[in-house]
Amino acid sequence: MNHPVMPLSSRLPRVGSTIFSTMSALAQAHGAVNLGQGFPDFACDPALIEACHAAMLAGHNQYPAMPGVPALRQAVADKLALQHGRRYEVETEITITAGATQAILTALLAIVHPGDEVVVLEPCYDSYIPNIELAGGVAVRVPLDPLSFRPDFERIRAALSPRTRALIINTPHNPSATIWQDTDMQALADLLRGSQTLLISDEVYEHMVFDGRSHQSVARHPELAARSFLISSFGKTYHVTGWKVGYVAAPAALSLEFRKVHQYNVFSVNSPAQHGLARYMRDPAPYLQLPAFYQAKRDRFRAGLAGSRLRLLPCEGSYFQCVDYSELGPLAELDDRAFCEWLTRERGVAAIPVSAFYGPAGDAGSPGRQDDRDRQRVIRFCFAKEDATLDKALALLQEL
Ligand SMILES: Cc1ncc(COP(=O)(O)O)c(C=O)c1O
Repeated sequence: MNHPVMPLSSRLPRVGSTIFSTMSALAQAHGAVNLGQGFPDFACDPALIEACHAAMLAGHNQYPAMPGVPALRQAVADKLALQHGRRYEVETEITITAGATQAILTALLAIVHPGDEVVVLEPCYDSYIPNIELAGGVAVRVPLDPLSFRPDFERIRAALSPRTRALIINTPHNPSATIWQDTDMQALADLLRGSQTLLISDEVYEHMVFDGRSHQSVARHPELAARSFLISSFGKTYHVTGWKVGYVAAPAALSLEFRKVHQYNVFSVNSPAQHGLARYMRDPAPYLQLPAFYQAKRDRFRAGLAGSRLRLLPCEGSYFQCVDYSELGPLAELDDRAFCEWLTRERGVAAIPVSAFYGPAGDAGSPGRQDDRDRQRVIRFCFAKEDATLDKALALLQEL
């Protein structure tokens, strides 16, 4: 007997497959160089793999402690203290997560009550808005400046209301490759002073900051740290995005609520990877060398595009380079998605349209956003690739 499929009302009716999967599939179909999705095409340090292997052989193969392996939490606490001068308590303030994406969702589930508002600055990482909605919240979307991608604190102020539960920030920023300055953090502290608004600070590109600048972690700003979930990802820092291990550092009261959700969601995170990372982190050299490593790739990529008609946007941090293609004559008529498809099919290089980092069109919430998006002719390349991969892409792009 045939049973009819039960009708299901989607929790995320507006979510389809992501632009990253779409562009990667198109890249594969056309044999294109994939500078779309943000992941390295080179191997991690063999010493990190050896450390994880040793952990497996040593028997670290059962459930680890719910908040994370103590040695890894200690390593994270030491790193944060060394870099930013704030010492988070290992026992109560640091939790290891299954990547930053889980940390962001878990933080939202822990703090958002139905109908609470969470402010996001668009363009933004694509999980934020669906995560807010899954938590029963309402995403209030505030555009970054459409030309500079800088925060407009007056617009953020205007978006805050008594219902605002949290604000999500991200520096270095995906997709724009801008970073926040000390003055931005001060402005944010001024704005939030006296409010109940929490901060979710997505710092996954914390070690990719260029030209001698420093990363403005919330951990450097005591007033902000007191209301923040600081989130980062070992995947980005150690070239192992597929391992999905990250962390959240937050004051004890916030971490307590975070862990209540974490323990019934993930419970605990891959044990040998945690032990291996803890051992590998004893040496700070790999993350201290990361800015120079990625700056060299950034410079190679930018130099290669300098003769083309693509206008390079500033790249202060992250492993992304955005370009404006509005000087490309008739091609500039194409919207950024159509242009990325053209580039993949006709030139053999895949990129991501920056419009994909905005929430659905036609929503209430952020006046002017649709205009901003329509005006933009900006696409994002990922330069976390072997030099040979970058050179191959550059040879194809230089003619533009
Ligand atoms: C801004 C931002 N946040 C979070 C993540 C996800 O990090 P993870 O792979 O650790 O979940 C990414 C990955 O692309 C990202 O760009």
